[in-house]
Amino acid sequence: PALPVPERPALPLVGHALTLPRGFDGTAHLMREVRDLGPVYRVRAFGGEVVIVGGLNLVAELADESRFRKNVHADLVELRQFAGDGLFTAFHHEANWRKAHDILMPAFSLGAMRDYHATMLRVARSLIGAWDRAAAGRRAVDVPEDMTRLTFDTIGLCGFGHDFASFRRDGQHPFVGAMARALAFAQARTESIPGSDLFRVRRSERFRRDIALMTDLVDEVVRRRRASGDTGTGDLLGRMLHTPDARTGRPLDDVNIRNQVITFLIAGHETTSGALSFALYHLTKHPEVLARAQAEVDALWGDEETPDPDHGDIGRLSYIRQVLNESLRLWPTAPGYAVEPLRDTVIGGRYAVREGETLMVLTPALHRDPAWGDNVELFDPERFTREQEEKRSVHLFKPFGSGERACIGRQFALHEATLLLGLLVHRYRLIDHADYRLRIKQTLTLKPEGFTLELARRTTGE
Ligand code: HEM
Repeated sequence: PALPVPERPALPLVGHALTLPRGFDGTAHLMREVRDLGPVYRVRAFGGEVVIVGGLNLVAELADESRFRKNVHADLVELRQFAGDGLFTAFHHEANWRKAHDILMPAFSLGAMRDYHATMLRVARSLIGAWDRAAAGRRAVDVPEDMTRLTFDTIGLCGFGHDFASFRRDGQHPFVGAMARALAFAQARTESIPGSDLFRVRRSERFRRDIALMTDLVDEVVRRRRASGDTGTGDLLGRMLHTPDARTGRPLDDVNIRNQVITFLIAGHETTSGALSFALYHLTKHPEVLARAQAEVDALWGDEETPDPDHGDIGRLSYIRQVLNESLRLWPTAPGYAVEPLRDTVIGGRYAVREGETLMVLTPALHRDPAWGDNVELFDPERFTREQEEKRSVHLFKPFGSGERACIGRQFALHEATLLLGLLVHRYRLIDHADYRLRIKQTLTLKPEGFTLELARRTTGE
């Protein structure tokens, strides 16, 4: 007979909420519970409940799309207030998911990266301009802030031909602030007693204004594109406006396009920014890894003052790619994804789960499964050599989610991040001036908080 999923004794009404810390402490707590309770357990908070899954065999089982599909869990439902039926927050049965997926997939193929390469390089050079000035003035740079400027400008330009010009501003772009507050507000709602936001009227008003700021900006970008008479399909916006869907013969509707643009602006920059920041953190703390990464770029670009990497160079930076993958193993910046059973079923050969309930794969726990070896906390890019990858189950590494609903932007993120890391390690020595201790901040995604570096230009071989 099937057993209930294990759980700690819960209090009436609040369930386990009193033991669940907020933000990243909550994730760290759930990761410890995987060690203490095993790779599957249930948590309850304020009437909602989630089954946490953190081990290889179960994750492999949940990847079976004839039994499970993406679950739009409580946090994602909150995000629908501003991302609607955009790709990330769409219910799997919503017609617009399939339609947008089919229209947009070709824009994210490996081959499509050729079209974005020059723009990605241009934005990388604005960051390098800013870092050269910081190096000359012996000023420290705030790594996550600058990575966010880079990834935000990159998706703005590659996706919509819009220049947010983040490196020409002192603070962040207003959209980034509005988005960060809206995400925090939406998440806080799912962590509190339902209805208590009545007591937070001012913050609710702010939330509405932040949503308006985001939608106004997006509507303006779309309006300008339509007014320009440009009917090209060379970027995401052009594709969405002018590509008919094979099934219906119609392009996406305007409300859906707005939802997609907001989705891409959010999904397209937060996670990549965090991934770059963690990679730079690990490179700073592992001089032997940094030296190998530098040797790889030096072999390709020599001591050129301003190397001009072409699209094909990205595939040659295989060690840099290993560094990125290993960073995403330890701190997958989107630290989970959820599926739901298509009908009541039994998982792991013994635990009963119900149709439609949230089964949350806790990726940082999966990425520490014993199948990774004894020393799972050690940062070691050797885990991602081709031989190692071929030996291992594909289900052990899921930073981009799983199956049909996996990340559409994966190649985009990897191309952008590999290019930038290559250029940075080629040009700078990374000086850990504040002897940084890792502190992780979690909003929807993970970032190393307060990570600053000093930089010095290197000459090759240094
Ligand atoms: C979905 C991670 C970069 C756009 C996802 C999912 C994960 C993920 C885990 C699955 C979510 C779920 O199942 O609920 C990441 C990471 C990135 C990254 C770690 C960077 C290192 C990007 C970029 C873009 C993007 C650059 C766009 C340019 C999306 C979209 C979805 C998605 C639209 C929803 C896909 C669908 O359901 O059809 N991402 N992502 N992501 N990501 Fe990414």
